[in-house]
Amino acid sequence: MNIKTLLRKLTLEEKVGQMTQVTSHLYLKDNSSDEIDPKKLAEAVVNKKVGSILNVKTHAFSLKKWDEVIGAIQGQVLKTKNKIPVLYGIDSIHGATYVKGATLFPHNIGMAATRNNDLVAAAAKVTAIETRAAGIPWNFDPVFDVGRVPAWARFEETFGEDPYLCGQMAGTAVTAYQGDDLRATDTVAACMKHFLGYSSPDSGHDRTPTNISENQLREIFLPPFQEAVDRGVATVMINSGEINGVPVHGSYKLLTTILRKELKFKGLAVTDWEDIIRLHTRHRIAATPKEAVGIAINAGIDMSMVPFDFSFTKHLIALVKEGVVPMKRIDEAVTRILQLKKDLGLFDNPLGKGAEEVKLNTTETQQVSLAAARATMTLVKNGKGKKTSLPLSKKVKILLAGPAANNVSCLHGSWSWTWQGKEVKQYPKSVKTIHKALTEKLGRGNVICFSKSKYEAADNFNIKKLQAAAKKVDQIVLCLGEDAYAEGPGYSPTLLLDDRQMALAHAAIQTGKPVILVMVQGRPRIIRKLVPDAAAILLAYRPGPLGAEAIVETLLGENNPSGKLAFSYPRYSNDLQTYDHKYSAEVQELEAAIITDGGYNPQWAFGHGLSYTEFEFGKLKLSKKNIKKGDILKVSTSVKNIGKRAGSIGVDCFIRDCYASVTPAVKRLKRYVSVELAKGEEQKIVFELNEQDLSFIGQNGKRIVEAGDFEVMVGGMVGRFKWGV
Ligand code: BGC
Repeated sequence: MNIKTLLRKLTLEEKVGQMTQVTSHLYLKDNSSDEIDPKKLAEAVVNKKVGSILNVKTHAFSLKKWDEVIGAIQGQVLKTKNKIPVLYGIDSIHGATYVKGATLFPHNIGMAATRNNDLVAAAAKVTAIETRAAGIPWNFDPVFDVGRVPAWARFEETFGEDPYLCGQMAGTAVTAYQGDDLRATDTVAACMKHFLGYSSPDSGHDRTPTNISENQLREIFLPPFQEAVDRGVATVMINSGEINGVPVHGSYKLLTTILRKELKFKGLAVTDWEDIIRLHTRHRIAATPKEAVGIAINAGIDMSMVPFDFSFTKHLIALVKEGVVPMKRIDEAVTRILQLKKDLGLFDNPLGKGAEEVKLNTTETQQVSLAAARATMTLVKNGKGKKTSLPLSKKVKILLAGPAANNVSCLHGSWSWTWQGKEVKQYPKSVKTIHKALTEKLGRGNVICFSKSKYEAADNFNIKKLQAAAKKVDQIVLCLGEDAYAEGPGYSPTLLLDDRQMALAHAAIQTGKPVILVMVQGRPRIIRKLVPDAAAILLAYRPGPLGAEAIVETLLGENNPSGKLAFSYPRYSNDLQTYDHKYSAEVQELEAAIITDGGYNPQWAFGHGLSYTEFEFGKLKLSKKNIKKGDILKVSTSVKNIGKRAGSIGVDCFIRDCYASVTPAVKRLKRYVSVELAKGEEQKIVFELNEQDLSFIGQNGKRIVEAGDFEVMVGGMVGRFKWGV
């Protein structure tokens, strides 16, 4: 099939139809969330000639239902003149969210703590297979947004605050989703999102304005997207917000000059939800919906996620006829859309799947999810000094309390069977709560728990019950944090853990029994006042369907925690420095004596995470002391497990440019690796650094390297070298 030939055959209406994406509401009956309405479907596919459809209305469909849906859609396509298959897109965010019975995985914020790309790749591969099994070839994932604002409700979808970590981990997911051949039944087209600067809203509210300097835009937010493009990502979704007064959907500079000309992205650009019309209704840079369409398409949008009507199609046809949008722009967009459909093999196989039936959520795929959940576990406090509180002895009697103790939705977070992930009834019966997993290990007689499955149930916060039950046990395990939420509805005006949970925790501590905190949450809730008195604190993030098992195994010592924070865990709500801040962010002036914290004073720093074993680093060696253009610097050391049991350690390699014409960061992550070591085992680690790793965005907005002194840091050691002198 030749795309140029096909394009020549298309009328303007057909071309604009290809650029139109509508949601499932436009093919489902109004009074039903999963019954197809043949008339509505024909209107969308045959009359309006839409090129793409997305989403489900309320909840996940079974594979059988997806067969029916995709079959009905592509069946309508056969009634059109050119029979161009419809491209279905879906949010398979941490697993195939909208395929009933699929395997789900921990959210990215926990995956980033593993420092283990293999786990990211394995989870993405399963997701690709289980998404494609539903006949859906396009996944709106991964998120390349850098999580710089912990209050933002989508923080859990990010790989944390570091641009390199975000680029590498999300990049790994792209490679696994797409494989070598998009036609294969174990691949899907990936979508890097949300280009650009989405994750840094000034107010913390989703889709609200951000002001980011050109320097920070290029230093922090752009590099992960460059990584995605370099890995051949097929599509991009655009940031719904505005940067420095310009909505990204209307920015020629961002969508064409930077995305196409600088980054050299060749794939398809889709808007986010309703974002063209919102240039008029929300951002108010367009006086009419029609003007909004003209601005967005001329800025570089190829496909509009309209998604509730066909107004986009109507306006764009008119704009082309009036000469406001050139036909060249339309042809460029449609070529990209047709090319993707061809690459996905949809012209030959519009149902988009293999002949073999795929089994979802098998023992093997569950093992991948469990391995990932175990590796995300991040132990941030364990006892005082040398006296540790975890692992727990299996002989103790435990009071398990708090809203997260007997609830499944908080273990999963956003995009879990439903968009918000909150509907407990949607979860498979097989998913265990922490209560169930703990009782299975210790026996009913050893665990007291009065927490209910509904996160908000009054009992979950009942101090009197907690005090009474505490008398009968040796230990309290208090499971706190946040219930599931997604996007705008997840906004919280404060990062502080809410008052009821704080009161419960204080009451637990006052009983005098050792209190282990398990934090199940998508963003770091401030718990400063609990930290000194808690016996131990385990961060579980959103560990997914096997998260309860992973948490309990960690508490009991069957899993050795190895997670390393992918963000700076805040101590105070006004003190949200990232680890890669500037030197001058650490306030040290004449008032040093009265300044109690220097600036970067998180509760736990980026990279923090404890283990049940001990590791010792060998000497840090650099292959050269002076390096120049074209050289590779080998930074090597070794790490040995000197403790009493096997364990994994994430090793970060940072560099620092000692002096530069744009104020340098105190350190920046350049490489990382996860090393698994048996008791007594030692392994060599070599990181190779190059010129690119030493570069920064200069005052001229371009990436440069300046001659001078550099330092490289691994395992608390520092090595020095010079570049270009
Ligand atoms: C989200 C996107 C998502 C899209 C389609 C939007 O609300 O911002 O991340 O891909 O919906 O469901």
